[in-house]
Amino acid sequence: MSPSADSRLPWFGEDLFPLYLAPMAGFTDLPYRHLCKRFGAEVMVSEFVMCEGLLREVPGVWETIEFTDYQRPLGVQIFGAEPRRMGEAARLIEDRLRPDFLDLNFGCPSEKVTRAEAGCSLLKNLPRLAAIAAAVREALPPERPLTAKIRIGWDAESLVAGEAARLLEEAGVEALAIHGRTRVQGYKGDADMGVIEEVAAERTIPVVANGSVEDWERIRWLAEESSCRGAMIGRAALGNPWIFRRIRHFLDTGEVLPPPGLSERVDALLFYARELRESPLGRQRGESLGWMRPKLKSLLKDLPHSRRARAALDRAETFRELDDLLRTWAEGAAATADAA
Ligand SMILES: Cc1cc2nc3c(=O)[nH]c(=O)nc-3n(C[C@H](O)[C@H](O)[C@H](O)COP(=O)(O)O)c2cc1C
Repeated sequence: MSPSADSRLPWFGEDLFPLYLAPMAGFTDLPYRHLCKRFGAEVMVSEFVMCEGLLREVPGVWETIEFTDYQRPLGVQIFGAEPRRMGEAARLIEDRLRPDFLDLNFGCPSEKVTRAEAGCSLLKNLPRLAAIAAAVREALPPERPLTAKIRIGWDAESLVAGEAARLLEEAGVEALAIHGRTRVQGYKGDADMGVIEEVAAERTIPVVANGSVEDWERIRWLAEESSCRGAMIGRAALGNPWIFRRIRHFLDTGEVLPPPGLSERVDALLFYARELRESPLGRQRGESLGWMRPKLKSLLKDLPHSRRARAALDRAETFRELDDLLRTWAEGAAATADAA
């Protein structure tokens, strides 16, 4: 008998309902993942990476899937169209990085990816989708779990999630994240939790629900009533890494915590700035701060009276200055808040 998902993917153990940070290329890079981990993200997946880029050692590609032990459990996500090449890339990742699991992308809607018959276009070619999963399973050592992420279908007339999930499970995929939108929907409209639930109820492997998992009632339903075994949070975590802590607290107590206050935000901002600086991209860019300003500013979203902090971010030329300016601003803002 094969070992259960609970032992190979222990975050699905009895009574656990893991909160995943969704992979979001260009956003959930190593520094942002660190920040989300700090605020309670429980499982993470790297930004997707093209298997051919890895195999051909395209400069910078391996850096996009770097991770640290602190981020574990973490899966590296790959996409591609050729079963054999996907297997080779998986093997290389295994040899070099030893992630906690390998994840297959069958959900990317981008024209560039679907034209190459990868990502979401594989939902229109289920035999190939299954062949990719089987080839990667074969290429990985038996102890390394394989997972996948799909959408519910290409369009509303072809909701193939159930069939895709069956084939993937048969091919050895051990957990499946389902984004409850079609390719045609892109990122708009609500995600269809009904389709995800049907698949989760049919399958033995854990299904993780994804798609606008952000309102408290949906989160409660997923954790307490649905057949889903985890939730994956995407855009709601951007500029909002503390969402994980708030969701976990809500699931544990039923109480909705407010977002963190000023001093915790500033600490988070400075932590993130340091992480960015030490990241592969930060090492390339040296002292220049321009590239990280929008990322840092995203953490100030919804924070009242943050105009001066934004100005400090614009003014700082070096990390030292950034640190000084933000701390001075935080002290001033805290004093104003105390006086109020
Ligand atoms: C900017 C951006 C980049 C994304 N990159 C990836 C990716 O690399 N791999 C992947 O499987 N999904 C990717 N996605 C999809 C998300 O993981 C997620 O499925 C989608 O955003 C729906 O979840 P949400 O409604 O919580 O945002 C991306 C989404 C966005 C917005």
